[in-house]
Amino acid sequence: MRAWILEKHAKIEERPLKLVEVPTPHAQEGEIRVKILVCGVCRTDIHIAEGDLPLRKCPVILGHEIVGIVDEVGENVRRFKLGDRAGIYWLYNSCKKCKYCLSHRENYCPDIKSTGWDEDGGYAEYITISEEYSLPLSDVHLEPSEIAPLMCPGIAGYAAFKLTETQTGDKLGLYGFGPTAYFVLKVAQSMGIETYVSTRSTKNIGGAKKAGANWAADASRERIPCKLDSVIIFPPAGNLVEPALSQLEKGGILVMAPVNASPIVIENYSENLWGHSIRTLFNLRRSDAEEFFETINRLQLKAGATLFPFEETQDALLLAKQGKLEQPNAVIKIAG
Ligand SMILES: NC(=O)c1ccc[n+]([C@@H]2O[C@H](COP(=O)([O-])OP(=O)(O)OC[C@H]3O[C@@H](n4cnc5c(N)ncnc54)[C@H](OP(=O)(O)O)[C@@H]3O)[C@@H](O)[C@H]2O)c1
Ligand SMILES: [Zn+2]
Ligand SMILES: [Zn+2]
Repeated sequence: MRAWILEKHAKIEERPLKLVEVPTPHAQEGEIRVKILVCGVCRTDIHIAEGDLPLRKCPVILGHEIVGIVDEVGENVRRFKLGDRAGIYWLYNSCKKCKYCLSHRENYCPDIKSTGWDEDGGYAEYITISEEYSLPLSDVHLEPSEIAPLMCPGIAGYAAFKLTETQTGDKLGLYGFGPTAYFVLKVAQSMGIETYVSTRSTKNIGGAKKAGANWAADASRERIPCKLDSVIIFPPAGNLVEPALSQLEKGGILVMAPVNASPIVIENYSENLWGHSIRTLFNLRRSDAEEFFETINRLQLKAGATLFPFEETQDALLLAKQGKLEQPNAVIKIAG
């Protein structure tokens, strides 16, 4: 099969991926093989390619927003049959034996495997995966290119949202309005939760207003008009933590979504931290993905994507890095 491989770190501008012929994988017992139709581009792919995250496998095929068709099933596969539509996201596998896996908290498994990092991902024509870690998508009434961006920002946003414990009638703050925050806003809205968005760029402020935020501006310039029940911070900006905490009601929860962050300083414990909780989003659970896709079907949620042919995968990564995409997301069309 054809696949884009990464052999060593380099800036996206230097086009670090190579399009090569590699052996097509076959489904082993309990596995399905998916013929990949589309794969979305995520900022994490850029972080892996450029060396912000180490190479865990070399060479590696990046990509973890995969939608395709099951075209081979191994022995004892029960959840999928040939021709079914399947999705694969960041959680590729976990040990199934540790205390976390046994209590449905596989996001903390010490042996967790990530798609397109520990194992080959979706910038290729085929992928194999344990059927238990693949999402059945045959009942999702969207085009594959509309589903792909849901596979990472959608599921991660939903997982962060769940950590906030926000209820109908509450007020939720979102700091940074990228693709992930967009999905959180839509899910929150559907539950009758008010949303207050702080983001710097006029483009994102406009995007938040258009998406229906109750308030959107840059909170470092314009004060959020009320206290909030919970807040999610999306960018890796530690300096946002204390201002966000200062905005919380007593009992309020702050969720940090990023995988890394600049230093966090909380100067005023009594005013800003006391009576509040800080939680972090740490990988994803299968239940997050399954619940999110039930919500998708209910809300008919989707986000715009610019499509790129397989041969132009590196152009897609470059435009995503530069923030020059016409739509919020980039999706590579591989087959179909
Ligand atoms: N924890 C996990 O397991 C997990 C899993 C998946 C994803 N994630 C994380 O979830 C986040 C995904 O969100 P995303 O991709 O939608 O976010 P993003 O693009 O990284 O950031 C969202 C917005 O935040 C604003 N921003 C960026 N840097 C900022 C700064 N220094 N100060 C203030 N605002 C800043 C930018 O908007 P403006 O220019 O308008 O300010 C940006 O568009 C990422 O941080 C990713 O690492 C975590
Ligand atoms: Zn991702
Ligand atoms: Zn485990």
